[in-house]
Amino acid sequence: MTAENKKPSYIIDNGIIEKQREYSSLVSTLISNLYPAGAKAFVHTYGCQGNVADGERLEGMLVEMGYELVDSSENADLILYNTCAIREHAEDRLYGNVGALKGMKSANPNLKILLCGCMMQQKHAAEKIKKSYPFVDIVFGTHAVYRLPELLYRNLTSGKRVFEITDEDGSIAENLPVHRDSSFKAWLPIMYGCNNFCSYCVVPYVRGRERSREPEDVIAEARHLVKLGYKDITLLGQNVNSYGKGTDYNFARLLSEINEIEGDFRIRFMTSHPKDCTFELLDTMARCDKVAKHLHLPFQSGNNRVLKEMNRGYTREKYLELLSYAYKVMPDLSVTSDVIVGFPGETYEEFLDTVSLVREAGFTSMYTFIFSSRPGTKASLMDDPVSREEKGRWFKELTDAQEEIADSRTTKMIGKTYRVLCEGISKGGLIEGRTEGNIIIEFPGSPDLIGSFRNVKVSESLIWILRGELVNE
Ligand code: SAH
Ligand code: SF4
Ligand code: F3S
Repeated sequence: MTAENKKPSYIIDNGIIEKQREYSSLVSTLISNLYPAGAKAFVHTYGCQGNVADGERLEGMLVEMGYELVDSSENADLILYNTCAIREHAEDRLYGNVGALKGMKSANPNLKILLCGCMMQQKHAAEKIKKSYPFVDIVFGTHAVYRLPELLYRNLTSGKRVFEITDEDGSIAENLPVHRDSSFKAWLPIMYGCNNFCSYCVVPYVRGRERSREPEDVIAEARHLVKLGYKDITLLGQNVNSYGKGTDYNFARLLSEINEIEGDFRIRFMTSHPKDCTFELLDTMARCDKVAKHLHLPFQSGNNRVLKEMNRGYTREKYLELLSYAYKVMPDLSVTSDVIVGFPGETYEEFLDTVSLVREAGFTSMYTFIFSSRPGTKASLMDDPVSREEKGRWFKELTDAQEEIADSRTTKMIGKTYRVLCEGISKGGLIEGRTEGNIIIEFPGSPDLIGSFRNVKVSESLIWILRGELVNE
């Protein structure tokens, strides 16, 4: 057997990717006739970093087809929304934004409007677009990202609307062109899909089954990024701890091997699922100098009955045990988390277990969400007697508690010096840097610093961000 034959069957054959390249050059000719002044594309991605990584590949393919990427939808010849379905609010917003494109399409019939991503992978959403938004030209799901050139070709040559949503376990397309938004921070997907079926979550339905990229492909991409000068590389997956499941290669080994790459850069990863987070992984994090001492470990609820109903596969005690081991081997570790307030049937007393977990855990920051019912999930069928207003009060109680904790954490940072990656300019004209623990420090400095590591001494805490001064090196 050759090495090529040993690749998992979900990795798409190179020949199929090559075929898309042929479509890409056909589209390139078509658009140079259709838009003699040059074709402009505007891409907007909603949702998580995994979706952003898809967006960067969609942009890469558009550039290969000859489109110039622009920052606004005005004057664009192609508008692509890469959608998210995680909460109802995300979907409502999308319908509003698509509705607003109707006038632009009437003013410019050559404008192409495309929708893709997680929301479009759901039949009900694609149907609604088909019926109620006739000015949308192409709709495709998460499994068809790599086929963008073919879909555009079909629309440009037939003039007909194209709907490409297939219900499948999913595949992996290697070697797609990528247009990265930053020249120093990169997203590196290591796996796709999810098998966990947390009862509230739509992701397993719209992203297919869990599948991992081959370690050599991931490591080669990481090496390439370091060579290009990337300083902050985030390994992505819905549950990175189950990378390589079913093989003798695991996530801890992948981290160690990426850590071996020579260069001055940081490695991050998200998201870790507590159910699959091992002491081996925490030890590996502690040992690897390039792995940022930052762990995003969503807990979702502090109550065991609710965790069970959520189908999370761990208890409050197991979660806190992981954290205490993590803090033991990495005393400076910064932990961030996600939590859901108002899961169907959750009582106020159960919610208070979440507040107490937050007080015990000492998170640097936390993303708090009010439960949103997602069609097709188990939780959408559960009784949900607590009103939205009541859940809003719980939400405030929890975020107030977290604010207190974050404040005491950041106040302790005053007077200390941190190595930050300078990432941009704040609204107030200061340089924005990010610590290893993912905390933002603002300080006066020249924009030339952007993209480099600097030492900054903290002088003030504004709870979620810090202020400081550059330390002369
Ligand atoms: N794979 C990651 C989470 C990805 S979704 C994990 O398991 O941790 C990001 C966050 O959105 C989740 O952690 C959860 O807090 C929130 N979320 C997901 N579905 C939700 C829903 N139906 N309502 C409210 N929040 C939700
Ligand atoms: Fe959703 Fe759970 Fe999968 Fe995370 S692990 S993506 S919350 S089903
Ligand atoms: Fe949204 Fe899909 Fe990510 S539902 S959060 S974009 S995986």
